[in-house]
Amino acid sequence: MVYLTRREYFNGAHKLYKADWTPEKNAEVFGKCANKHYHGHNFDVYVTVKGSPDPDTGFIMNAHLLSKIMKREIVDRLDHKNFNLDVPEFKNILGTSENVAIQIWKWLEPHITGCELHCVKLVETENIYVEYFGEK
Ligand code: NI
Repeated sequence: MVYLTRREYFNGAHKLYKADWTPEKNAEVFGKCANKHYHGHNFDVYVTVKGSPDPDTGFIMNAHLLSKIMKREIVDRLDHKNFNLDVPEFKNILGTSENVAIQIWKWLEPHITGCELHCVKLVETENIYVEYFGEK
């Protein structure tokens, strides 16, 4: 089994705030991330696929094709967007890095053919990242 990873990046804004909680509880749980006027991050997203190299091409998957899929499925949806307001998937779900990584997996998986999606790694800051490996 060989693993291939491609990186893309986007920036986006969000606010972590639950309308059914008091402002105090939101502040306690989410801290600065609950700030009323949103805040942004420069996200790096690493998508890893796994499989065996094709005998003809030597590729698990063409990395250029993976990049095109990532740009279409991830970057076009999230880059320069406010996740809470602009991205329908986060209308009712908090746009935490955890939930964004899961959603990225859902967008990508149907388009990965000839190999398997292994991991979506979303880097939110230089000190925090999440990795999602699907539910299998
Ligand atoms: Ni944030």
